[in-house]
Amino acid sequence: MGVPEFVNLEELEGLAEGSMERTAFDYYRSGADDEISMRESREAWKRLRLVPRMLRGVSDVDTSARVLGHDLAFPVLIPPMAMQRLAHRDGERAMAKAAARHGIPMVLSTMATSSLEEVATVCPSPLLLFQIYVTRHRDITQKLIEEAVALGYKALVVTVDVPYLGNREADVRNRLSLPDDLHLKNLQGRLGVVSNLMHGDSQQGSMLTQAFSEDIDPGLTWEIVTWLKDVSKLPVLVKGLLSPEDAAIAVDRGVDGIIVSNHGGRQLDTAITSCDALPAIVARVRGRIPVLVDGGIRRGTDVVKALALGASAVLVGRPLLYALAVGGEQGVWTAIQKLKEEFKLGMGLCGTSSIQDITPSLIAPSSSRER
Ligand code: FNR
Repeated sequence: MGVPEFVNLEELEGLAEGSMERTAFDYYRSGADDEISMRESREAWKRLRLVPRMLRGVSDVDTSARVLGHDLAFPVLIPPMAMQRLAHRDGERAMAKAAARHGIPMVLSTMATSSLEEVATVCPSPLLLFQIYVTRHRDITQKLIEEAVALGYKALVVTVDVPYLGNREADVRNRLSLPDDLHLKNLQGRLGVVSNLMHGDSQQGSMLTQAFSEDIDPGLTWEIVTWLKDVSKLPVLVKGLLSPEDAAIAVDRGVDGIIVSNHGGRQLDTAITSCDALPAIVARVRGRIPVLVDGGIRRGTDVVKALALGASAVLVGRPLLYALAVGGEQGVWTAIQKLKEEFKLGMGLCGTSSIQDITPSLIAPSSSRER
């Protein structure tokens, strides 16, 4: 599969729209309700202004970063994104291969269309994390975790912003379901309801909404962190926090990292953007655990800004799904490469030659106050 030409990540959406099934494209692109949080997530990074430093000797710009105990080529991860075989027949495996070639981690979704094992066999284990949606049947989640541990997954990411699935109207209109040849491989045969519900002809809108309401546990509390740590003995990251108070609780509960996220605007519409939420969370956490961030990050300068605001790393979602759709593994590799080159250029133009040089003083105070 050839990779169509693109010069930046934003262009991928248009390319993918022309080459994907409408239902799949809409599922990837859309947000909840009026898509206000989704749009603002992109705009928030754009509004921040940089204050570059000069004459700092930037002939060698080193993008490498140590994140969650691993040395990464640059501080970017691939977030959990469900059902990647809707984009390309190699789905999650192609995504994982591209991540491994770049030396960056990928988080596999509970709702993947490839199994934990299929992905583990193509991606070196230090770089694989597993995202958990905790099911009402806790024993099923426990078995999945045990499988992930045995396969060498290095951390768990528990997504906490989906007690109920957000109202994604495009999926309701399209009556989103999975084609017969695709399955939620990690739940298939284990959780009749989710995996069966994802097939067939829905008369009531999105099958995903029905699957979540049947099987995903909306009763979770902070106790879940202790349970996940006991069962897995792995580091546990909490994904989907936006409040500094919750960040403080996460630290007290022994969480190993926070992902500040509004789920790409797909859950609570009009929720604060992750860019706006980040500074208060960083201030509250005070460096005790890593704080990562995702949502609307599309440019190398967005990554510089996130790090300047105190993030240890970022996650970039939709553009990589679109890259997968239009160019498979090589498409994803190329998109990550472009982001990395932009990041390196952004660092050099800011007068920073290592990640440690990226400090809050790079952000113009006026641009943060206007928000
Ligand atoms: C997601 N996201 C997501 N998050 C999660 O914890 N588990 C999941 O299964 C999914 N699935 C998923 C599917 C699709 C199609 C998208 C676009 C997103 C959210 C994802 O991890 C991440 O938070 C956002 O995608 C980040 O925003 P951007 O970069 O897409 O703007």
